[in-house]
Amino acid sequence: MSKPTYILGLSCYYHDAGAVLLKDGKVVFAAQEERYTRKKQDDRLPTDAIAKALDHAQITIDEVDAIGFYEKPMLKFFDRILSTYFKTWPLGLRQYQMAMQEWMHTKLWIPQHIEKDLGYKGKVFYVPHHESHAASSFYCSGFNDSAVVTVDGVGEWATTTIGYGNDKALDLKQEIHFPHSLGLLYSAVTYYIGFKVNSAEYKVMGLAPYGEPKYVNQFKELIEIKDDGSFALNMKYFSYEHGLRMTGKKIEKLFGEPTRKPESELTQFHKDIAASVQKVTEEAMLKICKHAKEICPSENLCLAGGVALNCVANGEILRSGLFKDIFIQPAAGDAGGALGVALSIWHKKFGGERLPKMNDVYWGTEYSDDDVETFLKNENLPYEKLDESQLIDTVSSLLEGENVIGWFQGRMEFGPRALGNRSIIADARNKENWQKVNLKIKFRESFRPFAPTVLEENVSEYFDLDRESPYMLLVADVQPDKRDMIPAVTHVDGSARIQTTSEKQNSKYYNLIKAFREKTGCAVIINTSFNVRGEPIVESPKDALNCFLNTHMDYLVMGNILMKKSDMPTNRVLQSADYLDKFELD
Ligand SMILES: [Fe+2]
Repeated sequence: MSKPTYILGLSCYYHDAGAVLLKDGKVVFAAQEERYTRKKQDDRLPTDAIAKALDHAQITIDEVDAIGFYEKPMLKFFDRILSTYFKTWPLGLRQYQMAMQEWMHTKLWIPQHIEKDLGYKGKVFYVPHHESHAASSFYCSGFNDSAVVTVDGVGEWATTTIGYGNDKALDLKQEIHFPHSLGLLYSAVTYYIGFKVNSAEYKVMGLAPYGEPKYVNQFKELIEIKDDGSFALNMKYFSYEHGLRMTGKKIEKLFGEPTRKPESELTQFHKDIAASVQKVTEEAMLKICKHAKEICPSENLCLAGGVALNCVANGEILRSGLFKDIFIQPAAGDAGGALGVALSIWHKKFGGERLPKMNDVYWGTEYSDDDVETFLKNENLPYEKLDESQLIDTVSSLLEGENVIGWFQGRMEFGPRALGNRSIIADARNKENWQKVNLKIKFRESFRPFAPTVLEENVSEYFDLDRESPYMLLVADVQPDKRDMIPAVTHVDGSARIQTTSEKQNSKYYNLIKAFREKTGCAVIINTSFNVRGEPIVESPKDALNCFLNTHMDYLVMGNILMKKSDMPTNRVLQSADYLDKFELD
């Protein structure tokens, strides 16, 4: 038997570092560095994730045939350049170009980091940022051919690309360049509304349904969108200190309000601004996709890049009927670039065969029941060990009503969403659970909605959706006759951000919800990520226990091990007053 080909894809040095290991083109391990270092969106060379990947595959770094690098180091400079040079646009453009040249030299450092820090002496390939995004979607889609659209803040110069994939070939055909960027416009509004840029854009999307798009006309001053989807920002409204910001007198005059201070009151004005930028983003995305359909003859569409996490826009694209089928890479942000670069190398440098559509994202570390028991014995904490069918029966009963349960199972998800292996779950029928989970467990703003997980075979009964949505990337309306039944996951505008699950994708999680359906008649539960506000999603039993003990969570399930909060010694519960302070609020 010939030796398998191992390719390691890396993304780092900007934010959200990740490592992905392929064995003959198939993902054998993928994880974000933040989960191990416990620093949200950690951008360093992902040495911990790499070590876990090699350990999982039981190989050494010498057995890796190629390392692929998602071309991000320049964006480290980008941050600095924006904050240092772009105060005086357009004067700053020249400074930016100079810094780009500086970066071209720094690129030479990367192999040295890889050689020094990883002890790797083999081949290193670089794939452009947007090509990596495109590859992460197309090569995972299972489509033989597809139009491919990538939209993000910025990568090298491109902010938006349209490409075409056919079998192993994937070519980007058109690009829109910095500073014209939908991602940066969205980030600029995120900042204007007082949220943290580069991590809290999803809050703007969550806030939008509370508002009316009253400021769309003012936004037309900020961005011109042509019928072919090309767009241009009006640069007189933007400044670049610490990243692209809409600040200063001009913008305040345009909208009539100052920039909101973080943590201050969210008013109807902020909700209306959120609704307006959301509408403008949807309009632009639809036009880009329409143009992609015109220049790329395919019934299929692949999406990636941070803006592809805008699941409301994704739902609009799906409902437009432009394409028969759509695939969105769940790790659409920059960590997913590590996947894209690895797949690109597999197909383009090694001539590797295409593989079927990806089935799930459970590609990270896992802990056995023995690992959990050893840990809990050391901690001297009480627990109950059940067999799997007892566990499903017990937990599905506990889910009824008010209990909030930490659900820690199997391999950790890759990408920004918890999809049933590092999740907090609760009864979607109980409206009180919305507030309880937000305020007592996640310690986050009460406006933010929760996503439902629904059994795939029941999705159309509950939602206006006729297909699977295994990665929580599509928003659709809750069926009118079900809105009163599942109020904890029904957003104010009647929509929901849906995750479907199936036996094939996650049998334990599927069986849990199936048992819940048998008991209650309801095939939907609340699923939110297992963390508190500002904390990376839990990775290990230790992280999960910390979160359980220091919040008002009622039960913790790790593998087949069940822990009840009221059984915990009182001197261990809610004792770490500094627990929340460790995490930077987003
Ligand atoms: Fe990106």
